[in-house]
Amino acid sequence: MKSFEGKMIYITGGSSGIGLEMGRIFAGKGANLLLLARNEQKLEAARHFMEKSRRTTTQKIGTLCVDVADHGEVERVMKTALEAYGAPDVLVCSAGINKYADHFENITHAMFDEVTKINLYGPRNMIHSLLPAMKPKRGHVVILSSAAGLFGMFGYTAYGTSKAALLGFSDSLRYELKPMHMKLTVVCPPEVDTPMNLDEAKTLPPEGRAMKSLGGFLTPEYAAHVIVKAVAREQYLFIPGASTRFLYLVHRLSNGWLTRVTSDMVVRITRRKMGK
Ligand SMILES: NC(=O)c1ccc[n+]([C@@H]2O[C@H](COP(=O)([O-])OP(=O)(O)OC[C@H]3O[C@@H](n4cnc5c(N)ncnc54)[C@H](OP(=O)(O)O)[C@@H]3O)[C@@H](O)[C@H]2O)c1
Repeated sequence: MKSFEGKMIYITGGSSGIGLEMGRIFAGKGANLLLLARNEQKLEAARHFMEKSRRTTTQKIGTLCVDVADHGEVERVMKTALEAYGAPDVLVCSAGINKYADHFENITHAMFDEVTKINLYGPRNMIHSLLPAMKPKRGHVVILSSAAGLFGMFGYTAYGTSKAALLGFSDSLRYELKPMHMKLTVVCPPEVDTPMNLDEAKTLPPEGRAMKSLGGFLTPEYAAHVIVKAVAREQYLFIPGASTRFLYLVHRLSNGWLTRVTSDMVVRITRRKMGK
C-alpha cells in the first residue's frame, strides 16, 4: 500500500504505546482511523492526540470500546464499526498485555489463559470478524507479535508462547490471504518504551531483565515509524531494530545454538550477581 491517504485503518490497542504512535503517523498521512481498546477515557485522549496530527479536518477519527478477548463482543462491536466507518483497508492488531512476566511456577492457569486470550485469540477474533468485509477491498492485516516470539526468554512462558503462536498463525494465514490479494505483515519488535514495559517490570525476574537487554531498546515513535514503513512496502515478517535483526540471523544460522549459549551465560552471570 503505497499511500494511506483516504484509507480506513482500524487499530486495536490504538489508545497506547505502539498502536497510539502508529495512529498518529497514519493520521499525518491522511488516513481515517478507528481506535479500539477497553478503556473509554484512554481512547478519548488518543482521539484528541491524533486529531492534532490530521492532515485535514475531514479525516474521521473514531473510537469504540471492545475487549478483543471476547469473541461475542468483538462480533457485535465490529458489526457497529462496519456500519459506521466501513470496512478497513488496514487492520492493525496491536492490543496486547504482558502482565505476568514471571517464573512459570508463579503463573496460574487463569493468568496464562488471560494472556493467551488477549494476545493470541484477540487478533484471531478481530481478523475472523473483519475478513469478509476486508476481502473485497484487498485489505492489509498487521499483527504485533514480538521478538519474544522469535526467541525464548526467562520469565516469558505465557507472553512468549502467545507471541510465538501468533507467528505460526500468521505463517498459515498468509497462504490463505495471498490468493485473495490480501496482505499480511507480522511484526517482532524488541523492547519498546511503553506502559506495557512498566507493567511487566513489576514481576519480570532479573534473569529475564538481563536477557532482554541483548535485543536493544526502541522508542514507541521509532518503532511505529519503521512499522508503518514496513506496512507501506507490504513486507511480511518485519523485525524493527538492527540488534534484534542481527540476533535473529545468528539464531537461524546456528539453529538456535548461539543464542541459547549466550542467553545461558547471561542468566548464569545474573544469578551469580544475585548470590544464587
Ligand atoms: N512494548 C514492548 O516492549 C513490545 C515489544 C514487542 C511487542 N509488543 C507488542 O506490541 C503491542 C502493543 O504493545 P504496547 O507496548 O504498545 O502496549 P501498551 O502501551 O500497554 O498498549 C496496549 C494497548 O492494548 C489495549 N488492550 C489491552 N488489552 C486489551 C483487550 N483485551 N481488548 C482491547 N484492547 C486491549 C490497551 O488498552 P486498554 O487497556 O484500555 O484495553 C492499550 O491500548 C502488543 O501486542 C505487544 O505485545 C510490545
